[in-house]
Amino acid sequence: NASLGKNAEDSGHYIGASVRWDPLADNEKYKDLLVEEFSSLTVENEMKMEAVQPEPGSYSFQKADDIVETAEQNGMKVRGHPLVWGEALPDWVHEKVVDEQSAKAVLKDHVQAMAGHYSGRVQEWDVVNEAWNDDGSYRETIWFEYIGPEYIPLAFEWAREADPEAKLYYNDYGNEMKNEKTDAMFEALSRWKNDGVPIDGIGMQTHIDAADPRFSREKMQENFKRWEAAGFETAVTEMDVKLQNLDAPREERLQAQADIYADVTSVCMEETSCSGLTVWGVGDAESWVTGQESESGEPLLFDSSWEMKPAYDRMKRTF
Ligand code: XIL
Repeated sequence: NASLGKNAEDSGHYIGASVRWDPLADNEKYKDLLVEEFSSLTVENEMKMEAVQPEPGSYSFQKADDIVETAEQNGMKVRGHPLVWGEALPDWVHEKVVDEQSAKAVLKDHVQAMAGHYSGRVQEWDVVNEAWNDDGSYRETIWFEYIGPEYIPLAFEWAREADPEAKLYYNDYGNEMKNEKTDAMFEALSRWKNDGVPIDGIGMQTHIDAADPRFSREKMQENFKRWEAAGFETAVTEMDVKLQNLDAPREERLQAQADIYADVTSVCMEETSCSGLTVWGVGDAESWVTGQESESGEPLLFDSSWEMKPAYDRMKRTF
């Protein structure tokens, strides 16, 4: 009865989890499950700009380094996340970034310091995170405000200069299936890629609400195939499935959640373009959903006592 990671390896994919520094340092059960079950990890918060560059030009890599070391000691891959995002910015950015020139200088320094520091140790980087709104317009982040859409291809070029090996990803939510947002992304990213911008892959976060009727395995697969046909890799990067809005008895809700996990996993395992699937946390106890949105979201593969849920078993049966 091999682990999720071992099972997926047979078809050339990884199964990962996002990881936080605190439970890794003080919860053995958490660490054991992580290294036993998963073959990849994403640093959940400790690589965000507010965490690594708390003061201009002064980097603090220690916590992220600790997590990367855990991966290396256990033969796991690492997804770096994220180099460029409109959120989790340190306060000083709003003072230093005042025009196009200062925006480019700050962004380039950050991207290259990070990608350079982790060069050879991160297999996939989320270079740009969440650049589009649901209606297909660009999100008005500080980077967009001063640089315009060009901040996106520039970030990929700067990242490639600092790390020639890592696969460079664009990552977003709500892009698991075709819709206005995905269409806008597809148009721009494939145009840049054709022009030679080093964009290797597309990350679909896959934060799903089990009550959302729009989820469809077929539509998801269609969408993965569209990216593959345009020369991109794909990955499921932050999967979780919230339960609280589903109006059904508990057992049924857990089964519905398990079905969605199985659907998404089987899409990724069937597509050669899909490098792997990452879930956004190890167990319900430390999920961001539990912390921020709903205690009854219970979105992950292990429950709050670190026991396997139906979703875990169903996922395993898809390999
Ligand atoms: C979330 C973390 O899980 C939380 O712990 C943190 O407080 C906020 O960020 N999309 C992303 C992730 O790309 O970085 C976010 O992670 C979840 C949504």
